[in-house]
Amino acid sequence: MPKVLVSDKLSETAVQIFRDRGIDVDFEPNLGKDKDRLAEVIGQYDGLAIRSATKVTEKILASADNLKVVGRAGIGTDNVDKAAASKKGVIVMNTPFGNMITTAEHAIAMMFAVARQIPEASASTHAGKWEKSKFMGVELTGKTLGVIGAGNIGGIVCDRARGLKMKVVAYDPFLSEERADKMGVEKVELDALLARADFITLHVPFTDATANILSAENIAKTKKGVRIINCARGGLVDEDALAEALKSGHVAGAAFDVFKVEPATDSPLFNLPNVVCTPHLGAATTEAQENVALQVAEQMSNYLLTGA
Ligand code: MLT
Repeated sequence: MPKVLVSDKLSETAVQIFRDRGIDVDFEPNLGKDKDRLAEVIGQYDGLAIRSATKVTEKILASADNLKVVGRAGIGTDNVDKAAASKKGVIVMNTPFGNMITTAEHAIAMMFAVARQIPEASASTHAGKWEKSKFMGVELTGKTLGVIGAGNIGGIVCDRARGLKMKVVAYDPFLSEERADKMGVEKVELDALLARADFITLHVPFTDATANILSAENIAKTKKGVRIINCARGGLVDEDALAEALKSGHVAGAAFDVFKVEPATDSPLFNLPNVVCTPHLGAATTEAQENVALQVAEQMSNYLLTGA
């Protein structure tokens, strides 16, 4: 009987699925944070199910003599050393679809939050101030949204934004003109998006090609008064350059769920006016967490039991 370790806080649905499929499962949701213990025990397991807290490093993999599969309940596999895994013959799988709606919804929520300064207005109202004239917002209707990356999540953001009567321009080298037409969005080059968008939202993975895609130089090409939303990955935007652009008033607001260094206990964006921050909550809904837990457990079980 294959043996699986769940080392992060995954919904118990995953544990039940492993059991129902006849897999021996240990559920230790805090073990991922203890890398020494993880290295000690990993040798017993055929499968490792994780979210983002467990770091599957070369060192962990070196002790993983029976490991056949690492399953990431979520999209990003940045926390797995994929080169080391592949050298060892360990398959790395993710669940690209389970949390895409939830993450897209978070980006839209962040766009509203920054357009109307909702977090600051809420904090001020809780503090007993009634600063009605301080929080003047902007409408989304009729504004241009620039979507960088129009894949699974970006595509849903495009759809929701069109429902909000926004004009959507998308930069994505993998987006065909036909698909852009079907989605009702205009496919543009990055410079055109930067020049035209009132709001910019990022939906690309962090790779060599996308690192710092909103660099100081590119932020300088944006329209004055732009608002920037990042619910994808830290490191896509130069946080120092963005902080400067916010201070100068060139950028009117930013909403960030992801940071270059996470957990983010400090960032040049913290404590600037009209910067909304959340702690990587993009996938944090009960629905998405059920979906990814279920999907990862089914996929890993299939692989361990049938090789498929
Ligand atoms: C993902 O990659 O699935 C999301 O960023 C959510 C997460 O990392 O928890």
